[in-house]
Amino acid sequence: MIHRIDHIAIAVEHLDSAIDTWVNLLGCDRSTVTIHEVPSEKVRAAFIPIGETKIELLEPLGDDGPIAKFLSKNGAGMHHIALATDGVDAEAKRVSALDITSLGEPSAGAGGKKIVFLHPRDTSRVLVEFVEPKGTL
Ligand code: CO
Repeated sequence: MIHRIDHIAIAVEHLDSAIDTWVNLLGCDRSTVTIHEVPSEKVRAAFIPIGETKIELLEPLGDDGPIAKFLSKNGAGMHHIALATDGVDAEAKRVSALDITSLGEPSAGAGGKKIVFLHPRDTSRVLVEFVEPKGTL
């Protein structure tokens, strides 16, 4: 079951200045921002809570990860929408029966949460992530 939008992610060149931009825009406290390094994805991610959802800012670690490639192709901008579910595996299987293809197997994303991405070809050219938040949804 999909419960809500967990976060909307934006690819950025410089995480610290992007955090400043979004903290100012949202009028929130910088102490609410959490930062995770995800070496497997070659990315540093900042999460800024806003109500029940979050803005995720993604900065590449190195020159050859998926976010580095995205930035060199598109520049900074919207990257993906993440949907919270209590069962990433079950949802990936459910949508697979609808011919929506997962990009690889579910794996550990920022904060060790289980995630999987769906192929944008099958989702109106929007990259969609399923994420299984820890604790209560
Ligand atoms: Co995400």
